[in-house]
Amino acid sequence: MRVLGHPGTLLGLLLLLVAPGEPATGSPQAKVDCICHNGDYVICDWGSQQKPVHNYSFYFWFELLSKPSECKDYIQKDGLNVACHISNYDLFNSMGMHLNDSQGQTVVHQELRLSNRVRPGRPFNLTLSNLSNHQLLLTWKTPYEIPECLEHLIRYKSNKDTEFMEHSIVNSLKFQIPSVDPEKRYTFYVKSKRNNNCATTDLWSEESEPAFWGKEDMSPPLLASIKTIVIPLGSFLILILLLLALLRMERVWVVLMPRIPNPSKKFEDLFTAYQGNFSEWAGVSKDDVETFKPNYYEDICAITELLPSGGYLSASSEPTAKSGGPPDPLPDPPPKTSPDPAALTT
Ligand SMILES: *[C@@H]1O[C@H](CO)[C@@H](O)[C@H](O)[C@H]1NC(C)=O
Ligand SMILES: *[C@@H]1O[C@H](CO)[C@@H](O)[C@H](O)[C@H]1NC(C)=O
Ligand SMILES: *[C@@H]1O[C@H](CO)[C@@H](O)[C@H](O)[C@H]1NC(C)=O
Ligand SMILES: *[C@@H]1O[C@H](CO)[C@@H](O)[C@H](O)[C@H]1NC(C)=O
Repeated sequence: MRVLGHPGTLLGLLLLLVAPGEPATGSPQAKVDCICHNGDYVICDWGSQQKPVHNYSFYFWFELLSKPSECKDYIQKDGLNVACHISNYDLFNSMGMHLNDSQGQTVVHQELRLSNRVRPGRPFNLTLSNLSNHQLLLTWKTPYEIPECLEHLIRYKSNKDTEFMEHSIVNSLKFQIPSVDPEKRYTFYVKSKRNNNCATTDLWSEESEPAFWGKEDMSPPLLASIKTIVIPLGSFLILILLLLALLRMERVWVVLMPRIPNPSKKFEDLFTAYQGNFSEWAGVSKDDVETFKPNYYEDICAITELLPSGGYLSASSEPTAKSGGPPDPLPDPPPKTSPDPAALTT
């Protein structure tokens, strides 16, 4: 057990209890999966989904060839080998493989039967033809070279159904739909896998493009009209609204922040044409200038101060003068700063 030999034995044991069979070492153990794409070529993948911890090298052999040979066509991701493209393969013998880490240590030794790892290409050219009595015939094509080895899954539903109906067809490229309503709109899909006569597999192909039959759905033209009319019109309206909003904001802005007037006259003129006469340069009339000049004289206000023994200081604003005289033996009560609430009520 790899787990028990690991330094984190306790954690390993715990993990073993929780998920027996899962590798519990710090680095996830590499695993190779090979898929034969439509019988054309094989891709063996160990790191395209999850970044591998080593720059592995890949060796494989078939029973007949038996001598391991290194991958000649690596697929790389971020500079690391993550998969191998193999064009020379043997479907009918088991395939052996090694994954060596960067130190040349073999970390994975696997075997598999490629015949169970064939993934057919997706079906295409789905065609629907009318039969009598509201029956339909669906036909399709497959890119896979041995159609006798295929099983197909047909999925269809009308626009009134919520769930798809499913039908499986072995070794045939047509399917008869028992009863359809021409008032409805039907959608069909087909996918394929190698059937039980040829393989033990669940590797389905990609699903075909959809095929349609029945009354034309209103949604595609409606969608088209939305695209061609509503969207441009809507954007135009939004633009207009934005412009209006902008204008309104501009007006508010002008009210809030009146523009600083540009000086209408050049400063140069002050010194050339007006010889430094500022009031003339500024356009203020002689009379106005006169009014600015002080034309009155205030009487000199004589402030007299009585001696402390005499009583008040004439110019003092404070009614209780403390500037002169001996301090009062008792301190004055603190002056009321706020009006007396009792005085307010009377
Ligand atoms: C990984 O190995 C391949 C050759 O198998 C080499 O081309 C690639 O540069 C190596 N990447 C790193 C990161 O060492
Ligand atoms: C890698 O794996 C191959 C094939 O299993 C083996 O012969 C070889 O010794 C291993 N190490 C190196 C460094 O190639
Ligand atoms: C698909 O079917 C149509 C008519 O049934 C045919 O004209 C067309 O060539 C077919 N396409 C392919 C790729 O076979
Ligand atoms: C098949 O039937 C549908 C619905 O009744 C009709 O719209 C369509 O034209 C028919 N196609 C042929 C080839 O008769």
